[in-house]
Amino acid sequence: MVVEVVPSGKACGAELSNIDISRKISDTDAEIIYQAFLDYQVVYFRGQEIKPADQRRVCSVFGEVGTYNRPKDRQHPRHASDEIMLISNVVEDGRVIGAHPDGEMMWHTDTPYLAKPHKATTLYAVEVPTIGGNTKFSNQYAVYDALSTKLKTRLKGKLAMNCYEFGTTFKTFEKYDRNRVPHHSHPVFRKHPETGRIAVFVCPLMTEEIIGMEEEKGKSILSEIYALQSQEQFIYDHIWEVGDMIIWDNRCLLHARTDFPRDQRRLLRRVTVSDDSNVLVA
Ligand code: SIN
Repeated sequence: MVVEVVPSGKACGAELSNIDISRKISDTDAEIIYQAFLDYQVVYFRGQEIKPADQRRVCSVFGEVGTYNRPKDRQHPRHASDEIMLISNVVEDGRVIGAHPDGEMMWHTDTPYLAKPHKATTLYAVEVPTIGGNTKFSNQYAVYDALSTKLKTRLKGKLAMNCYEFGTTFKTFEKYDRNRVPHHSHPVFRKHPETGRIAVFVCPLMTEEIIGMEEEKGKSILSEIYALQSQEQFIYDHIWEVGDMIIWDNRCLLHARTDFPRDQRRLLRRVTVSDDSNVLVA
């Protein structure tokens, strides 16, 4: 029995069934899973019971496990790790154990403020609220395809600056202090190193400006792109169940989180995959 790929029927996403990822993944299954990841950009397994070591092993199908450089004073001492990040509102010893604040989270890709943003991210659901807290994915190949030829030509070869203040779910400042906050420029349009397709690589949470463009013009173009990124036609909305494990391609997707009741617990375990290839300008 090999792993089965069932497309979500939405702009991206496929479920992978017939597999227990707490066990070693066969070469045949690894090949199918990897191809589904390239074809559907985000893939998910339901009903899994996995430990952190299993999650790391699944990551190894995709590459090297990524590390975070989160300042130690921003991590719960009992859960501090360079590889595993908890995404949670659960409080222990009077302190939240998760890395990001509660509630809704703006559209973003992971770590675009690094020279080599992480290739992929995995989340495993340990506890989920009865309503909300969905993770939504927006297909940036499709957003690129939907842009006008005029805008594609105007932005071809342009770079944008991405900055991140650790722990924000909403952009709290229009511009962050670049002496203090990690930041890096990347192409507005990025060529995927494996599929060769072009994806939009700017996002409302972390992109600050299009480099070399008059500020107001840049802002208005970014707003136009952001409006497109949040259109339903480009989105797969993942409604979590305990035991779900999901992996997505940060090179061609944005993700966001919907709000959920403050009095309900949500605990996801996150491990990323690093990228050893260079970011390609489209
Ligand atoms: C994240 O952006 O890393 C977390 C997404 C989520 O909590 O659904």
